[in-house]
Amino acid sequence: MRTHVVDHPLVAHKLTVLRDQATDSPTFRSLTEELVTLLAYEATRDVRVEACEIHTPVAPTTGVRLATPGPLVVPILRAGLGMLEGMMRLLPTAEVGFLGMVRNEETLEAATYAERLPDDLSGRQCYVLDPMLATGGTLAAAIRFLVDRGADHITAVCLLVAPEGLARLEEELADLDVPVTIVTSALDERLNEKGYIVPGLGDAGDRMYG
Ligand code: PRP
Repeated sequence: MRTHVVDHPLVAHKLTVLRDQATDSPTFRSLTEELVTLLAYEATRDVRVEACEIHTPVAPTTGVRLATPGPLVVPILRAGLGMLEGMMRLLPTAEVGFLGMVRNEETLEAATYAERLPDDLSGRQCYVLDPMLATGGTLAAAIRFLVDRGADHITAVCLLVAPEGLARLEEELADLDVPVTIVTSALDERLNEKGYIVPGLGDAGDRMYG
């Protein structure tokens, strides 16, 4: 598993405003989209393309287009939905599948309550959107779900990650024979006793949707 923390002043600036408890929901949602578009630029560095031939108005030439089958974008409901538009700005033709998962705030275990994904993901590159990688339970379950259906390349885009979550992913996904990359705007300090990322930005779903 590879973790890529995007080091860019605009990423840091937008993340700082997201962290600020004075930022209201409309601003939080629009800034999340902007931040995700910046992260998506890095996250799609390995997107599969194939060679093609085209004609410019002046001459024939060669280029690339997205390979077939194309990428699948998977926002994890609820908060991952707020990241979808930012991702689709860079991958407007991508297919979108949905996973609804919620973390039990007592046990911190993730449960799946909705699923709308293609049955067969053989040979598909998947981009998972989830703002917070806290204990890692949600993302570990989501990635396993996709790989069990045949996905062979996983990139997760997270606004924030905690070291505990990364360690859990490393451990729980060690048996997977599929490249997994986490792209994020920051690796924070730790989790608190409630399983919240510190310093974090609070509960992303609540800050987006109340
Ligand atoms: C939050 C967050 C992640 C998950 C992270 O979602 O958006 O999906 O918790 O926690 P974990 O790494 O410890 O599993 P939540 O369960 O609050 O649902 P929501 O998106 O509907 O608010």
